[in-house]
Amino acid sequence: HAPGALDGFAAGQRWLVTAGGTREPLDPVRFIGNRSSGRQGVEVALAAAARGAEVTLVAVNVEAAVLDPVRARVHVVHASTTAELEEAVAVETPSHDVVVMAAAVSDYRLAEVSDEKLRKENSDGTLTLTLVETNDILAGLVQHRTDDQIIVGFAAETPGEMTLTERATAKRERKGCDLLAANEVGWDKGFESADNHLIVVDEHGVVADVEGSKRDTAEALVTAILAR
Ligand code: CTP
Ligand code: CA
Repeated sequence: HAPGALDGFAAGQRWLVTAGGTREPLDPVRFIGNRSSGRQGVEVALAAAARGAEVTLVAVNVEAAVLDPVRARVHVVHASTTAELEEAVAVETPSHDVVVMAAAVSDYRLAEVSDEKLRKENSDGTLTLTLVETNDILAGLVQHRTDDQIIVGFAAETPGEMTLTERATAKRERKGCDLLAANEVGWDKGFESADNHLIVVDEHGVVADVEGSKRDTAEALVTAILAR
């Protein structure tokens, strides 16, 4: 970011950032997961720390290569499943001023987790899994927020027949969070790629629209949160 202007602006604030992607186990060796590396959330945590915030990062299956370099600057808490993430967020949220839900949270979990490895020996050639919806952690945050907390949602979208802005606007309204950041993803976009397109919306419209590295987009999001 441009040095000077907002340095130290977050001093005295406590930020909670979730990063990575949840895993829902099928059995002791398998899970349903997603492609989120946690890099975007980690960059948001670093950008907030650089502005003077005290940052807690809930790392959800973030690999060591991404996490280890930031351990000196943020306090790290670990979670793997949606239920563990929900618990960590519930414990940490009351002591934080800003919550950024950058983690990719599974919408479903297995109705039953097998203690034994699932075997295909008695299979008829297909496997049917019963999934049930997880709790919406962000919705819970919005419901129980205090007046001076800022709650920020994240969305990875394949825009399709709507624009990214239209999807972000609709999702922010549905979720009830103060700000919603949306980035475009696809088979070859958003995950392992260096170029990202992120927009941030509030109740009045688009407050940031950036293309660049995950660091650039994180800086823009943190600036938008501080401006609020
Ligand atoms: N989220 C959450 N708990 C869930 C699912 C999502 O807290 N069980 C949060 C994510 O961390 C993110 C925001 O909600 O900050 C938006 O997630 P997203 O998956 O885009 O929204 P959904 O309401 O699940 O809608 P969709 O059907 O598009 O997946
Ligand atoms: Ca979802």
